Amino acid sequence: MFTPQRFRAQVDEFIENYPGFKQTSQEVAQKIQKAIFTQGEDGREVADVLHGKQLGHPLHPLLTDITIGSWTLGVFFDVLSFLTRSQSSRKAANRLITLGTISAVPTALAGITDFSGIKQDAAGHGALHGIINSVALFFFWRSMKNRSRNHHLTGFFYSTLGLGLMTFGAWLGGDLVYNHRVGVSHVPEEQVAGDWTIVLAADELKTKEPQVVKVKKQPILLTKQGKNISAVHAVCSHAGGPLEQGSFRDGCVQCPWHGSVFNLTDGHVVHGPATFEQPHYQTRVTDGQIEIRRWRLGMDKYPIEQKDIHGQNDQALLDKT
Ligand code: FES
Repeated sequence: MFTPQRFRAQVDEFIENYPGFKQTSQEVAQKIQKAIFTQGEDGREVADVLHGKQLGHPLHPLLTDITIGSWTLGVFFDVLSFLTRSQSSRKAANRLITLGTISAVPTALAGITDFSGIKQDAAGHGALHGIINSVALFFFWRSMKNRSRNHHLTGFFYSTLGLGLMTFGAWLGGDLVYNHRVGVSHVPEEQVAGDWTIVLAADELKTKEPQVVKVKKQPILLTKQGKNISAVHAVCSHAGGPLEQGSFRDGCVQCPWHGSVFNLTDGHVVHGPATFEQPHYQTRVTDGQIEIRRWRLGMDKYPIEQKDIHGQNDQALLDKT
Protein backbone atom coordinates (compact mmCIF):
# COMPACT_ATOMS: atom_id res chain seq x y z
CA MET A 1 0.00 0.00 0.00
CA PHE A 2 1.21 3.50 -0.80
CA THR A 3 2.15 5.59 2.20
CA PRO A 4 4.12 8.86 2.28
CA GLN A 5 6.67 7.17 4.56
CA ARG A 6 7.24 4.35 2.10
CA PHE A 7 7.49 6.81 -0.77
CA ARG A 8 10.03 8.92 1.15
CA ALA A 9 12.04 5.77 1.91
CA GLN A 10 12.11 4.89 -1.81
CA VAL A 11 13.27 8.39 -2.75
CA ASP A 12 15.99 8.23 -0.06
CA GLU A 13 17.05 4.79 -1.28
CA PHE A 14 17.34 6.01 -4.87
CA ILE A 15 19.48 8.99 -3.84
CA GLU A 16 21.73 6.87 -1.63
CA ASN A 17 22.14 3.94 -4.01
CA TYR A 18 22.11 5.42 -7.53
CA PRO A 19 25.81 5.28 -8.46
CA GLY A 20 27.49 8.66 -8.06
CA PHE A 21 24.25 10.64 -7.71
CA LYS A 22 24.81 11.99 -4.22
CA GLN A 23 28.49 12.69 -4.69
CA THR A 24 27.97 14.40 -8.05
CA SER A 25 25.21 16.54 -6.50
CA GLN A 26 27.58 17.66 -3.73
CA GLU A 27 30.32 18.45 -6.25
CA VAL A 28 27.96 20.45 -8.47
CA ALA A 29 26.75 22.46 -5.46
CA GLN A 30 30.34 23.23 -4.49
CA LYS A 31 31.21 24.27 -8.04
CA ILE A 32 28.28 26.68 -8.18
CA GLN A 33 29.32 28.12 -4.82
CA LYS A 34 32.88 28.53 -6.04
CA ALA A 35 31.64 30.27 -9.19
CA ILE A 36 29.65 32.74 -7.03
CA PHE A 37 32.56 33.39 -4.68
CA THR A 38 35.03 33.99 -7.52
CA GLN A 39 32.81 36.84 -8.75
CA GLY A 40 33.82 38.76 -5.64
CA GLU A 41 31.59 41.25 -3.84
CA ASP A 42 29.32 41.85 -6.87
CA GLY A 43 28.67 38.13 -7.32
CA ARG A 44 27.87 37.72 -3.65
CA GLU A 45 25.47 40.65 -3.66
CA VAL A 46 23.51 39.18 -6.58
CA ALA A 47 23.52 35.82 -4.77
CA ASP A 48 22.30 37.55 -1.59
CA VAL A 49 19.24 38.88 -3.44
CA LEU A 50 18.52 35.41 -4.85
CA HIS A 51 18.99 33.81 -1.42
CA GLY A 52 16.47 36.29 0.02
CA LYS A 53 18.76 38.17 2.40
CA GLN A 54 16.65 41.32 2.08
CA LEU A 55 13.46 39.36 2.82
CA GLY A 56 14.81 37.81 6.01
CA HIS A 57 13.99 34.31 4.74
CA PRO A 58 14.61 32.40 1.50
CA LEU A 59 13.24 33.98 -1.70
CA HIS A 60 12.81 30.67 -3.55
CA PRO A 61 9.62 29.46 -1.79
CA LEU A 62 7.98 32.83 -2.32
CA LEU A 63 8.62 32.64 -6.06
CA THR A 64 7.45 29.03 -6.27
CA ASP A 65 4.03 30.21 -5.07
CA ILE A 66 3.67 32.25 -8.26
CA THR A 67 4.89 29.47 -10.54
CA ILE A 68 2.97 26.62 -8.93
CA GLY A 69 -0.16 28.75 -8.53
CA SER A 70 -0.13 29.87 -12.18
CA TRP A 71 0.52 26.42 -13.63
CA THR A 72 -2.09 24.75 -11.43
CA LEU A 73 -4.74 27.34 -12.20
CA GLY A 74 -3.78 27.19 -15.88
CA VAL A 75 -4.56 23.47 -16.03
CA PHE A 76 -7.76 24.07 -14.05
CA PHE A 77 -8.94 26.62 -16.64
CA ASP A 78 -7.96 24.19 -19.41
CA VAL A 79 -10.31 21.59 -17.97
CA LEU A 80 -12.98 24.26 -17.53
CA SER A 81 -12.60 25.35 -21.15
CA PHE A 82 -13.02 21.74 -22.35
CA LEU A 83 -16.10 21.26 -20.18
CA THR A 84 -17.81 24.55 -21.00
CA ARG A 85 -16.23 25.32 -24.43
CA SER A 86 -15.50 28.73 -22.98
CA GLN A 87 -13.04 30.83 -24.98
CA SER A 88 -12.35 33.08 -22.02
CA SER A 89 -11.33 30.05 -19.90
CA ARG A 90 -8.99 28.95 -22.67
CA LYS A 91 -7.44 32.41 -22.84
CA ALA A 92 -7.06 32.46 -19.06
CA ALA A 93 -5.39 29.04 -19.20
CA ASN A 94 -2.93 30.20 -21.89
CA ARG A 95 -2.03 33.34 -19.96
CA LEU A 96 -1.56 31.50 -16.69
CA ILE A 97 0.67 28.85 -18.29
CA THR A 98 2.76 31.65 -19.83
CA LEU A 99 2.98 33.52 -16.50
CA GLY A 100 4.01 30.35 -14.67
CA THR A 101 6.66 29.52 -17.27
CA ILE A 102 8.16 33.01 -17.21
CA SER A 103 8.15 33.15 -13.41
CA ALA A 104 9.86 29.75 -13.31
CA VAL A 105 13.09 31.34 -14.56
CA PRO A 106 13.81 33.57 -11.50
CA THR A 107 12.38 30.79 -9.32
CA ALA A 108 14.94 28.36 -10.73
CA LEU A 109 17.76 30.90 -10.37
CA ALA A 110 16.90 31.41 -6.70
CA GLY A 111 16.73 27.63 -6.23
CA ILE A 112 20.12 27.07 -7.90
CA THR A 113 21.65 29.77 -5.71
CA ASP A 114 20.25 28.13 -2.57
CA PHE A 115 21.52 24.77 -3.84
CA SER A 116 25.06 26.20 -3.92
CA GLY A 117 25.02 26.41 -0.12
CA ILE A 118 23.01 23.29 0.64
CA LYS A 119 23.96 20.95 3.47
CA GLN A 120 26.03 18.03 2.20
CA ASP A 121 23.53 15.42 3.38
CA ALA A 122 20.67 17.15 1.54
CA ALA A 123 22.52 17.81 -1.75
CA GLY A 124 21.14 14.67 -3.44
CA HIS A 125 17.55 15.61 -2.57
CA GLY A 126 18.18 19.20 -3.71
CA ALA A 127 19.58 17.96 -7.04
CA LEU A 128 16.62 15.62 -7.60
CA HIS A 129 14.22 18.48 -6.79
CA GLY A 130 16.00 20.66 -9.36
CA ILE A 131 16.08 17.97 -12.07
CA ILE A 132 12.39 17.11 -11.71
CA ASN A 133 11.37 20.78 -11.80
CA SER A 134 13.60 21.44 -14.82
CA VAL A 135 11.83 18.68 -16.76
CA ALA A 136 8.49 20.12 -15.61
CA LEU A 137 9.59 23.54 -16.87
CA PHE A 138 10.53 21.98 -20.21
CA PHE A 139 7.03 20.47 -20.54
CA PHE A 140 5.34 23.76 -19.68
CA TRP A 141 7.57 25.57 -22.17
CA ARG A 142 6.48 23.04 -24.84
CA SER A 143 2.91 23.62 -23.74
CA MET A 144 3.31 27.38 -24.11
CA LYS A 145 4.77 26.97 -27.63
CA ASN A 146 1.91 24.74 -28.72
CA ARG A 147 -0.67 27.10 -27.31
CA SER A 148 0.90 30.01 -29.22
CA ARG A 149 0.32 27.96 -32.43
CA ASN A 150 -3.27 27.25 -31.41
CA HIS A 151 -2.51 23.57 -30.75
CA HIS A 152 -4.49 23.68 -27.57
CA LEU A 153 -4.92 19.96 -27.04
CA THR A 154 -1.19 19.29 -27.39
CA GLY A 155 -0.53 22.24 -25.12
CA PHE A 156 -2.88 20.73 -22.55
CA PHE A 157 -1.11 17.36 -22.87
CA TYR A 158 2.29 18.90 -22.09
CA SER A 159 0.99 21.04 -19.23
CA THR A 160 -0.66 17.99 -17.67
CA LEU A 161 2.65 16.11 -17.82
CA GLY A 162 4.37 19.18 -16.38
CA LEU A 163 1.82 19.47 -13.57
CA GLY A 164 2.42 15.87 -12.52
CA LEU A 165 6.18 16.37 -12.37
CA MET A 166 5.81 19.76 -10.71
CA THR A 167 3.72 18.14 -7.96
CA PHE A 168 6.48 15.62 -7.31
CA GLY A 169 9.07 18.44 -7.41
CA ALA A 170 7.01 20.46 -4.93
CA TRP A 171 6.75 17.44 -2.62
CA LEU A 172 10.54 17.11 -2.75
CA GLY A 173 10.82 20.84 -1.96
CA GLY A 174 8.61 20.38 1.10
CA ASP A 175 10.70 17.37 2.14
CA LEU A 176 13.84 19.50 1.87
CA VAL A 177 12.42 22.13 4.19
CA TYR A 178 10.41 20.13 6.71
CA ASN A 179 12.48 16.95 6.81
CA HIS A 180 16.00 18.04 5.92
CA ARG A 181 15.60 21.53 7.44
CA VAL A 182 16.97 23.36 4.41
CA GLY A 183 16.20 27.08 4.46
CA VAL A 184 15.06 27.20 8.10
CA SER A 185 16.97 28.76 10.99
CA HIS A 186 19.28 26.31 12.74
CA VAL A 187 19.79 28.37 15.85
CA PRO A 188 18.23 26.57 18.81
CA GLU A 189 15.49 28.39 20.66
CA GLU A 190 16.89 31.29 22.60
CA GLN A 191 17.96 30.17 26.07
CA VAL A 192 19.92 33.18 27.25
CA ALA A 193 18.17 34.86 30.14
CA GLY A 194 16.73 38.35 30.02
CA ASP A 195 18.69 39.11 33.19
CA TRP A 196 22.40 39.76 33.18
CA THR A 197 24.34 36.48 33.33
CA ILE A 198 28.05 36.19 34.14
CA VAL A 199 29.78 34.21 31.38
CA LEU A 200 33.54 34.76 31.70
CA ALA A 201 36.21 36.68 33.59
CA ALA A 202 36.98 39.76 31.49
CA ASP A 203 40.74 39.18 31.48
CA GLU A 204 40.25 35.72 29.95
CA LEU A 205 38.90 37.19 26.70
CA LYS A 206 41.71 38.48 24.51
CA THR A 207 41.63 40.50 21.35
CA LYS A 208 41.86 38.24 18.28
CA GLU A 209 41.06 35.20 20.42
CA PRO A 210 37.34 34.51 20.19
CA GLN A 211 35.93 32.24 22.85
CA VAL A 212 32.86 30.09 23.14
CA VAL A 213 31.08 30.03 26.48
CA LYS A 214 28.06 27.92 27.40
CA VAL A 215 24.94 29.59 28.70
CA LYS A 216 22.21 27.11 29.58
CA LYS A 217 23.99 24.60 27.30
CA GLN A 218 23.91 27.07 24.38
CA PRO A 219 27.28 28.03 22.84
CA ILE A 220 27.81 31.79 22.75
CA LEU A 221 30.68 33.29 20.77
CA LEU A 222 32.46 36.15 22.53
CA THR A 223 34.82 38.45 20.63
CA LYS A 224 36.78 41.49 21.71
CA GLN A 225 38.58 44.45 20.26
CA GLY A 226 39.95 46.92 22.72
CA LYS A 227 37.15 47.41 25.22
CA ASN A 228 34.48 46.32 22.77
CA ILE A 229 32.93 42.96 23.54
CA SER A 230 30.39 41.26 21.28
CA ALA A 231 28.31 38.16 21.87
CA VAL A 232 26.48 36.18 19.20
CA HIS A 233 25.11 32.64 19.14
CA ALA A 234 27.90 30.32 17.97
CA VAL A 235 25.66 28.04 15.87
CA CYS A 236 25.28 29.40 12.33
CA SER A 237 21.64 30.12 11.53
CA HIS A 238 22.07 28.79 7.98
CA ALA A 239 22.81 25.13 8.66
CA GLY A 240 24.34 24.89 12.10
CA GLY A 241 28.02 25.54 11.31
CA PRO A 242 30.45 26.30 14.17
CA LEU A 243 31.10 30.04 13.88
CA GLU A 244 34.06 29.93 16.28
CA GLN A 245 35.93 27.99 13.58
CA GLY A 246 35.22 30.64 10.97
CA SER A 247 37.37 33.55 9.87
CA PHE A 248 37.09 36.97 11.50
CA ARG A 249 37.45 40.21 9.58
CA ASP A 250 36.09 43.74 9.54
CA GLY A 251 33.85 43.21 12.54
CA CYS A 252 32.33 40.10 10.97
CA VAL A 253 32.62 36.34 11.13
CA GLN A 254 32.51 34.11 8.06
CA CYS A 255 31.05 30.65 8.66
CA PRO A 256 33.46 27.82 7.77
CA TRP A 257 30.77 25.66 6.18
CA HIS A 258 29.14 27.70 3.38
CA GLY A 259 30.62 31.15 3.84
CA SER A 260 27.75 33.13 5.34
CA VAL A 261 29.03 36.37 6.85
CA PHE A 262 27.49 37.87 10.00
CA ASN A 263 28.16 41.19 11.67
CA LEU A 264 29.40 40.48 15.18
CA THR A 265 27.91 43.66 16.61
CA ASP A 266 24.28 43.10 15.76
CA GLY A 267 24.21 39.65 14.14
CA HIS A 268 22.82 40.87 10.82
CA VAL A 269 23.53 38.89 7.65
CA VAL A 270 26.21 40.57 5.56
CA HIS A 271 26.31 37.76 2.99
CA GLY A 272 24.26 34.60 2.50
CA PRO A 273 23.45 31.82 2.03
CA ALA A 274 22.09 32.56 5.53
CA THR A 275 18.98 34.72 5.54
CA PHE A 276 18.21 34.68 9.27
CA GLU A 277 20.20 37.00 11.50
CA GLN A 278 22.46 35.53 14.14
CA PRO A 279 21.05 36.00 17.67
CA HIS A 280 23.23 38.52 19.50
CA TYR A 281 23.33 39.71 23.08
CA GLN A 282 23.95 42.78 25.15
CA THR A 283 27.29 42.71 26.92
CA ARG A 284 28.86 44.57 29.81
CA VAL A 285 31.75 44.14 32.22
CA THR A 286 30.95 44.31 35.94
CA ASP A 287 33.53 43.69 38.69
CA GLY A 288 35.88 42.11 36.16
CA GLN A 289 33.21 39.70 34.83
CA ILE A 290 31.68 39.70 31.35
CA GLU A 291 27.91 39.58 31.54
CA ILE A 292 25.43 39.08 28.73
CA ARG A 293 21.69 39.22 28.47
CA ARG A 294 19.02 38.77 25.83
CA TRP A 295 17.59 41.82 24.10
CA ARG A 296 14.12 42.34 25.50
CA LEU A 297 11.04 43.03 23.43
CA GLY A 298 10.58 46.76 23.03
CA MET A 299 14.13 47.47 24.17
CA ASP A 300 16.13 49.88 22.05
CA LYS A 301 18.61 47.41 20.59
CA TYR A 302 21.33 49.97 20.25
CA PRO A 303 21.14 52.39 23.18
CA ILE A 304 23.81 55.11 23.19
CA GLU A 305 25.91 53.61 25.96
CA GLN A 306 26.03 50.22 24.21
CA LYS A 307 27.56 51.73 21.07
CA ASP A 308 30.78 52.20 23.02
CA ILE A 309 30.70 48.65 24.23
CA HIS A 310 30.04 47.07 20.85
CA GLY A 311 32.26 49.28 18.68
CA GLN A 312 31.83 50.31 15.06
CA ASN A 313 30.88 47.95 12.27
CA ASP A 314 33.48 49.18 9.84
CA GLN A 315 36.44 48.65 12.14
CA ALA A 316 38.61 45.65 11.54
CA LEU A 317 37.69 43.53 14.51
CA LEU A 318 39.74 40.44 14.40
CA ASP A 319 41.97 38.51 12.13
CA LYS A 320 42.06 35.03 13.45
CA THR A 321 44.48 33.67 10.88
S1 FES B 1 26.24 26.56 8.11
FE1 FES B 1 26.02 27.24 6.09
S2 FES B 1 26.92 29.18 6.12
FE2 FES B 1 27.05 28.51 8.16
